[in-house]
Amino acid sequence: MQRRTFLTGLAALAATGPAAAQMKMDGMQHDMPDMGGHAGHDMGASTSATPVLPEGEALRNLTRLANESTAPGTFRAKLAAQPAVARFAEGIDTPILGYNGMSPGPLIEVNEGDSVEIEFGNNIPGEESTIHWHGMPVPADQDGNPMDAVTSGSSRTYAFDLPEGSAAPYWYHPHPHGKTAEQVYRGLAGVFLVKPKVDPIPVEYGDTVLMFTDLRLAADGTIPASTMADMMNGRVGDHVLVNGQKNPSLALKLGEKRRLRLYNATNARYLRLTFENASMVVVGTDGGLLEKPVAIDEILLAPAERAELVVTFEKPGAAILRTLDYERGWMGPGKPEDAGLALLTANVSETPADPVPPLPEKLRSIKPLGTAAVTRRFVFTEKMEMATGGMSTGSHDVDMGSGGMAMNSDQMKMEFFINGVAFDMNRVDVVSKVGDVELWEVVNQSDMDHPFHVHGTQFQVVEHERNGKAMKPAYLSWKDTVNVVQGETVRLLLRQDLPGRRMYHCHILEHEDLGMMGVLDVQA
Ligand code: C2O
Ligand code: CU
Ligand code: CU
Repeated sequence: MQRRTFLTGLAALAATGPAAAQMKMDGMQHDMPDMGGHAGHDMGASTSATPVLPEGEALRNLTRLANESTAPGTFRAKLAAQPAVARFAEGIDTPILGYNGMSPGPLIEVNEGDSVEIEFGNNIPGEESTIHWHGMPVPADQDGNPMDAVTSGSSRTYAFDLPEGSAAPYWYHPHPHGKTAEQVYRGLAGVFLVKPKVDPIPVEYGDTVLMFTDLRLAADGTIPASTMADMMNGRVGDHVLVNGQKNPSLALKLGEKRRLRLYNATNARYLRLTFENASMVVVGTDGGLLEKPVAIDEILLAPAERAELVVTFEKPGAAILRTLDYERGWMGPGKPEDAGLALLTANVSETPADPVPPLPEKLRSIKPLGTAAVTRRFVFTEKMEMATGGMSTGSHDVDMGSGGMAMNSDQMKMEFFINGVAFDMNRVDVVSKVGDVELWEVVNQSDMDHPFHVHGTQFQVVEHERNGKAMKPAYLSWKDTVNVVQGETVRLLLRQDLPGRRMYHCHILEHEDLGMMGVLDVQA
């Protein structure tokens, strides 16, 4: 049904040639080689070679944000979002946005129980921004909601206390109305680690953050604007980077065990991952450790999801973290080749590693949230409309030639809905009560997967229902983002412990910007 609307739209495009919309069509144009015609400004760039990124450099650790406070249990620092220049390819400068000039932004590491105070300066010319603390239990008015935008040239302080038991691999990124996707793909996102008082994972395994981001570079080194295909599917770049590097390397000894914290901080790329020549055990998810380690062969990380792994390197030679094929429901032409990519290469020597303690059998306990007081339903749908007959006038028109149809940006509309409506930050969609356990049914009636995310808390997935069959997750865990496959219903239990307005949305950031978001008002 919705798919037909989409495909009709695409067919119309293919038949009539490119339209100059405010979302540029040129990327789509070169994804559809038989479309003919000539489009806009990026075409020249995309026909020349795109920059080659170096591979195999030693994995960099993310730069840490220094604590300016000397008082115990407090963390104080500044983060400024600002234009910066990055060098991804030899001799080519890329203008980006960075936090304190860096992309990924500096790594913030604090301990549970700490008080945090971060002064945020928005130095992005002409754009609002915020910092959202993804997954973290921070008060609603400190959580960087789109309603609390920081205007260009101004600053504000975010302050919150992190409760005991909140240790987890969180992250931070902008959340301004309608601009989240762009500010993130231009470079704004960082890791926020909250460490526990006592960590059951042996310290000998190290603690390595692998933050995946997605980069598209034009031949001149700039980051091109998004195309219509990007808006539909979410923007997928040309290079998956790890801590800002392409396929970096790790030098390891035989038998070495490593704790790896994987972050999918891409706008829209699904990462189904396997580690060739190494064995993986998952020990944690978005909201921290599992109850016990679970051996796995592969793991799917939808946009915004995280996983903590303990990986053992038992064979000498190259052990490669590689992507596998995943069908997430691509709309239209131009589906990226995303299987078989080498994201990280571990070079394992013949020298045996020093013996290390084994992974404990029990990591912590997770209490099931229990029985829900309320059940709610959230239905995802999508719509793409190509208005016909609306021959328009005005400077944005493109003459489609002898076909005799003109289109402009007003006539082409793509929308993503939750419960039939697009996001409105002045509307409250759901009212709930602090401390109530709720059962949320997230129903995906669209033709592509959508990763569902809720602010302010961590939830527990109860089951995935597909074609009338319900499946329990393989293990109990805390999550703030869960992938909802096309046609699937996901049931989850959640409780909000802090009052105020919270967002829930699809974490394909283009979909969020195009309306797939709602407002939850949690009342005391
Ligand atoms: Cu990563 Cu609204 O969040
Ligand atoms: Cu969030
Ligand atoms: Cu989506």
